[in-house]
Amino acid sequence: MLTDSRFSSPGLGAGLSGAIAGLPETPIAEVAMSVFGDPDVVPLWFGESDLVTPDFIRAAAARGLQAGETFYTWQRGVPELRAALSAYTGRIYGVECPVDRISVTTGGMQAILLACQLLLDPGDNVVIVSPIWPNITSAVKLVHGEPKYVALDRIAGGGWKLDLQRLFDTVDDRTRAIFVNSPGNPTGWMMTSDEQGAVLDFARRRRLWIMADEVYARLTYVRRADGRQVAPSFLELARPDDPLIVLNSFSKPWAMTGWRIGWLTHPSALGDQFAKLVQINTSGLPAFLQRGAIAALEKGDSFIIEMVERCQAGRELVFQRLSALPAVTIARPEAAFYAFFSIDGVKDTLAFCKKLAKNYKVGLAPGEAFGPGGQGNIRLCFASSAERLSKGLDRIEAAAKARASSGA
Ligand SMILES: Cc1ncc(COP(=O)(O)O)c(C=O)c1O
Repeated sequence: MLTDSRFSSPGLGAGLSGAIAGLPETPIAEVAMSVFGDPDVVPLWFGESDLVTPDFIRAAAARGLQAGETFYTWQRGVPELRAALSAYTGRIYGVECPVDRISVTTGGMQAILLACQLLLDPGDNVVIVSPIWPNITSAVKLVHGEPKYVALDRIAGGGWKLDLQRLFDTVDDRTRAIFVNSPGNPTGWMMTSDEQGAVLDFARRRRLWIMADEVYARLTYVRRADGRQVAPSFLELARPDDPLIVLNSFSKPWAMTGWRIGWLTHPSALGDQFAKLVQINTSGLPAFLQRGAIAALEKGDSFIIEMVERCQAGRELVFQRLSALPAVTIARPEAAFYAFFSIDGVKDTLAFCKKLAKNYKVGLAPGEAFGPGGQGNIRLCFASSAERLSKGLDRIEAAAKARASSGA
């Protein structure tokens, strides 16, 4: 498996890991790098809000730093943060989740990578519901695993649907895990509780792991029957020792992308294994940053309400403006903070997004970055101010009109 790609770069004759050298640059990065450093580009390509982390969270971290929390610390997170995460899980989902089932990680990204390191041997595959954030696929490949995709189907009039039977039929004897990201990036699709139950049942019977990426769980625009505004979680259905690892992050709900704090919820028997992996990868997360995360959990609900309102306004603005363009097909997503739309005749969205960035100064993410089901779509992150979004939308509109009048 360590093939020619080890020697394919001039000057690197001594070789690289085949897994690393074989990873393509993601098309999102390719668009961003094509205009890197241009301050005039309106950036709507990455998945983050334009809000700075709230004051009370920053202040808590600053207090930790001032108090001298500058030493090596607990591999799986300071006890107070794990206790706060346990309480948070109980409060949000009504599920008892003892601290030995929780491990803190360096962001959701590392949560994904640690889970892949823990579960996969070279040649194992992971069945992934797509379109999917490309770093997830890359994490699987990095540990010499193979991604196998099951694409969501488009529903007429908007939205997405998972064919569960197709998901189950894709599993083979090298499958170690099913990866579900719900609410989904880039689609905003949400798996229902019934679907989660069916997947859990299947995983139990077939002795497979479920990796459930729930980093957008708090960013939904629909209420559940009981009035709660949170996406259905596998945690609500699973037994403590089920083959389930839930991946989560502080990045999206509390505007903390730069902090790099996430967490895993897993069977308690995996705790020591994760401690080992954290030791080797990062040796833990700065203790003073974890003080900020505790503040987010304990006092951050009103900020999430504000964030959801802001995203909802952004979603509406983007929907109104883009759906008014004759060539655009767009639906309001139920959750997360992305519009995933298509423009008639635009097939090569990588080339189109590069052109948009260079000529029209607006940064969007090309759909082919997100694997099967993503092609022909374009992702726009609407977690921004109305002002920034309007500026970006003016430019998209100009590009779409120019395209229509040139017939290109
Ligand atoms: C689906 C999904 N999972 C995980 C992450 C990782 O987030 P972070 O590493 O910032 O916590 C992202 C970030 O965009 C994401 O979209």
